[in-house]
Amino acid sequence: MVRNILTTGGAGYIGSHVVVELLQAGHRVVILDNFENSDRRAVARIPQLAAGMVVLVEGDVRDQTVVAEALEQYRIDAVIHLAGKKAVGESVSNPLLYFHDNLLGAISLLQAMQATRVRKLVFSSSATVYGVPKELPISETAQTGITNPYGRTKLMIEEIVDDLVEADPRFTAISLRYFNPVGAHASGLIGERPKDTPNNLFPYVAQTAIGQRQEVQVFGDDYDTPDGTGVRDYIHVVDLARGHVAAIDRLFGPPLKDRHMRINLGTGTGYSVLQILDAFSAACGFPIPYRITARRPGDAAISLADPSRAETVLGWRATRDLAQMCADHWAFQQRAALDNSPYLVAN
Ligand code: WQD
Repeated sequence: MVRNILTTGGAGYIGSHVVVELLQAGHRVVILDNFENSDRRAVARIPQLAAGMVVLVEGDVRDQTVVAEALEQYRIDAVIHLAGKKAVGESVSNPLLYFHDNLLGAISLLQAMQATRVRKLVFSSSATVYGVPKELPISETAQTGITNPYGRTKLMIEEIVDDLVEADPRFTAISLRYFNPVGAHASGLIGERPKDTPNNLFPYVAQTAIGQRQEVQVFGDDYDTPDGTGVRDYIHVVDLARGHVAAIDRLFGPPLKDRHMRINLGTGTGYSVLQILDAFSAACGFPIPYRITARRPGDAAISLADPSRAETVLGWRATRDLAQMCADHWAFQQRAALDNSPYLVAN
């Protein structure tokens, strides 16, 4: 069944991949993005990656009038809310900016949805709501624990949705708790373009491989893990995007057990920092320079998803392996270097 889907933040790293997969699934898509942390080239390239109707509304999710107009004008059936700030370090140094942007953005969107009777939501949440996990692998019923303001905004928005669902029995939502999204579309045309120095491992490794960074700092090798470095559940961004399509389709299926469900998007397999460096070296064909440094405050030793609910509820699971994640991330990184080159002819 073809649906009209509004994707807030649809020009971003995750968003652009979600838009491509929604189009591939036959849906019509409206992108709402203010390009504060995304790139117009991603939107321009989407028609090369998928046929179908995609409209760009350049605007801010905090502008309730703009959102309500888009919901009505394009007869939106459901919303995927991806827009928001997501840098953990920035949220620690500037928490009010994160509470203002992320919470106001979500409330503005939800009010516009309520006013226009759009009552199906997929929310981009994060495994960071689990904090330092007490159990492994982490299931959706695990205790949450906040270690930074960014994670707090994600948990608060989930709880706002809980209260909305309670107040409006026709409202249903799925909050997708992302583990560690990495990689890029196999075409190399869309991918992650960090605006500043990357906080996350994969983009930093990729920028080191391309020569933009001197070396990777490995934040500690004295964790209780097989090689002492941090272990994470990396998931290919295309698998993650397909999880969003599965969530949208599920919202139009039979009633959910809970009208607001949390669902982990991860693989259930963890890799250490040194294993990532090895895998990325294999993808790019040369060793990645690195240095062991002190731990990063707030880091957990291991974060690993129990992905079983996604399979049970959505009929979805990740299929791309670490080699694919590295190969696709590297292909995009090389393309992105060309994008900024004065010699690039074709788009
Ligand atoms: C991964 C591993 C680091 C950088 C964060 C957010 C989370 C989500 C994903 C949005 C850890 C190590 C990292 C580096 C390193 N984002 N590392 N050197 O911290 O698991 O999760 O991104 O939702 O909210 O918290 O990801 O990529 O920063 O770190 O050694 O330069 O790599 O210690 O073990 P993280 P990450």
